[in-house]
Amino acid sequence: MAVPAHRPQTPDGFDWPAGFLFGASTSPHQVEGNNVSSDWWVREHSENPGPIPITEPSGDAVDHFHRWPEDMDLLRDLGFNAYRFGIEWARIEPEPGNISRAMLEHYRGMIRGAVERGLTPVVTLHHFTSPYWFDARGGWLAPDAADVFANYATVAAEILGEGVEYVATINEPNMITLVNGLMAPDGDTPDVPTMAALVPHQPSTDALIRAHKAAVKAVKAVHPHLKLGWTIANQVFQAEPGAEAEAEAYAWPRENVFLDASRDDDWVGVQSYSRTRLGKDGPIPHAEDTPRTLVGLEYYPPALGEAVRQTAAAVGPDVAILVTENGIAADDDTQRIAYTAGALEGLAAASADGIDVRAYLHWSALDNYEWGSYHFTFGLIHVDRTTFVRTPKPSAYWLGSIARELKS
Ligand code: BGC
Repeated sequence: MAVPAHRPQTPDGFDWPAGFLFGASTSPHQVEGNNVSSDWWVREHSENPGPIPITEPSGDAVDHFHRWPEDMDLLRDLGFNAYRFGIEWARIEPEPGNISRAMLEHYRGMIRGAVERGLTPVVTLHHFTSPYWFDARGGWLAPDAADVFANYATVAAEILGEGVEYVATINEPNMITLVNGLMAPDGDTPDVPTMAALVPHQPSTDALIRAHKAAVKAVKAVHPHLKLGWTIANQVFQAEPGAEAEAEAYAWPRENVFLDASRDDDWVGVQSYSRTRLGKDGPIPHAEDTPRTLVGLEYYPPALGEAVRQTAAAVGPDVAILVTENGIAADDDTQRIAYTAGALEGLAAASADGIDVRAYLHWSALDNYEWGSYHFTFGLIHVDRTTFVRTPKPSAYWLGSIARELKS
């Protein structure tokens, strides 16, 4: 497959920092399949699934649970040196206190498998899905949720000792608090929810921060050398002139409170897709002719560089930054290449300006279950969901060739 010639324009003399991790990301529920003990699986099969539209269940997903060796082979062969994936709490602890040794060994195998292939594993402990029983007993709002999560983190720590450097506790707590705001009985729920109309749920925010800190402590107690952090959705809030104070007030409960809680961590994950322009009354709706991605976000490649700069300013110079997600839902793969080239230009410029960026992990390695539907394709690799045959897209070869330059 010929690799498209387009190269991101990087600052003169720029080189990615030594040891830079270049790879892709997935999350367990979105790729593994049959995550039957999870709250999401229950929701997907419920007659009353709640406010998030579910047009189809996750089913077999792309069977990464069994096919991870093939997927990691592909990532290695494409030229990458890192892979972010998650371990699934609902499999490891399918009933309260019932720890599955077999599942722990499964994930230990994945970690070893990544290391053997020269893919540095970046491991997420919680990526939107919880065991069904955790949800049923009140989820993050149960009084002892932090302890229960920390207990799982202690169990998970057993397999994190070999070859893992970076561990994320919770993925996008700032999205979880928005979703909880939508579901809370006392929440200020709009009839037709849009991102802009969602209101963070303060008790969930407090609980998530407690759970994060408890999990960091639990893992560090077993492996003091591991680098712990969490991953935050960065919406690149941009204030219109004159709306700076309102924008700051809007951004705090949606993003900055979580970044502030990261100031004691080793690293923080930046997850960036687009931007949100803010006026005095909140988000400014897109104009008719705004270019959009498949999921309706504004097509805006510079978001990544801006997200990294905003994050660095919020967490301070002692917290390393890993881009743990960046990508685009697109049917047209040439758009994915153009978007990613633009995003990498912004990232390289931020790095050249001295920000401690250590990783670029593209979302996503594989087309996958986009929380309710398989229609929105973020993957570098296409998967036929009947035969499970994997076919890397041109963007996979293109991005892999950029990653490979790091190694040579
Ligand atoms: C999440 C992923 C999701 C991606 C694209 C992030 O919010 O962490 O699970 O698939 O964005 O929407």
